Amino acid sequence: MTSTFHPIDPAALERLHAILGEEGLRTDEPARQRYGRDETEDLHFPPQAVALPATPDQVAAVMRLASELRLAVTPRGAGTGLSGGALPVAGGICLSVERLDKIRWIDRRDLSCEAEAGVITGHLQRQVEEQGLFYPPDPASGDTCLLAGNLAEDSAGPHSCKYGTTRRYVLSLEAVLPSGELIRTGARTRKDATGYNLTQLLVGSEGTLAIITAATLRLLPKPATTLVLVIPFPALDAAAAAVEEIFLAGFDPATCELMEAEALRAVGEVMVLPPGLVDQEAMLLVELDGEVADELLERAAAIADLVESLGAGEPLVAQDAAEQRRLWEVRSKIGEAVKHRSVYKEADTVVPRKALADLVRAARRAAADHGLTAICYGHAGDGNLHVNLLRGELPLEEWASRRDAAEEQLFRAVIDLGGTLSGEHGIGWSQKQLLPLAIDPPTLALMRQVKKAFDPLGILNPGKIFPDS
Ligand code: LAC
Ligand code: ZN
Repeated sequence: MTSTFHPIDPAALERLHAILGEEGLRTDEPARQRYGRDETEDLHFPPQAVALPATPDQVAAVMRLASELRLAVTPRGAGTGLSGGALPVAGGICLSVERLDKIRWIDRRDLSCEAEAGVITGHLQRQVEEQGLFYPPDPASGDTCLLAGNLAEDSAGPHSCKYGTTRRYVLSLEAVLPSGELIRTGARTRKDATGYNLTQLLVGSEGTLAIITAATLRLLPKPATTLVLVIPFPALDAAAAAVEEIFLAGFDPATCELMEAEALRAVGEVMVLPPGLVDQEAMLLVELDGEVADELLERAAAIADLVESLGAGEPLVAQDAAEQRRLWEVRSKIGEAVKHRSVYKEADTVVPRKALADLVRAARRAAADHGLTAICYGHAGDGNLHVNLLRGELPLEEWASRRDAAEEQLFRAVIDLGGTLSGEHGIGWSQKQLLPLAIDPPTLALMRQVKKAFDPLGILNPGKIFPDS
């Protein structure tokens, strides 16, 4: 969508100030720099002004003004995204929902809650856990990311293997349209066949259709006990076969994470690996959960038998909480380990589970063909691997052209394997040119119509998802 935006002139700034007050508006250089970045490593687009509304009504008033004056508005959670969805690529206003940080209610008996979009995901999890409840979506950035970004991107993490992604938990949304109208989608009921399902359209729409200000969420009872198995594999194909067999046999793991050889080596550079994992071709981390500890032990023993028959080494098993955390470290340190090596570009590949080994091979080939290194890890149970392409010592232009070529080659292979462009990080800014690989022209045209219906002026999160024509 092409749009011409007006710069924020002093008169507009004064009106923003009248809406937001001293605390709610920043135009100083440090704020512009900070809100111009997210977790995509080398992208930077400072906005002209940072709006920090404290209420949904203030969000609505900012959008009314933005519509009247044709100002670009980029909504933002905590800026932990990996696809550039929160980058203010058109300048204008960055609207952060971080001050909308109230948990409005938790209804234990109804297994539901309502929280504002600026609540930190990990904080919500701990609050519901105090009441014996469970909010499963667990992105790696859980202690810093906001529900806002999780809702916008349909974020997920290891637990989506058993429990699904953010969208499975969203019953109803409060949101502000680009025009400044406040709407409520869906209902807090567990069933709802009332009109179009705008709730599920807004979840995953990457802040391009409306600004979500609050969500009513479904919760679960917290499982009483968990167990972690870390399984080393001397061959990648054996690990991929084990993933398939674990699901076929009905073991229903809460998580099933994979790290291949290069990922294990990278983590070995920032921590001491358990000896059984050194020089392995792959590792699976399987978490089981349930109500009875002995039952988990039995399931773990059966899984150990199964994977050993497929060529795995001896699994490490932890029931004790501290021991489980220690095993999880191997997986959770990978983000830090990659950054420690190099600037990188992340491709959030996802394929049918049976194509996992082919996916890793395709990633290695795409990297090698362009003189790059690939590190692959992620949510094997969902067929969702994060392929990190490393810049190493390459000069910027060389890196950019090799990276783009390798990425396109990789995603063409992913599509051939029956996969698509993103499992949980979104398209945002950094994958948008590849969108036509996955979405056919009439479907893409329909998506543009949807965008137009919500945002006829094209002022909300411009420059995202849709490829430049
Ligand atoms: C993870 C993030 C990158 O799974 O999604 O670690
Ligand atoms: Zn992930």
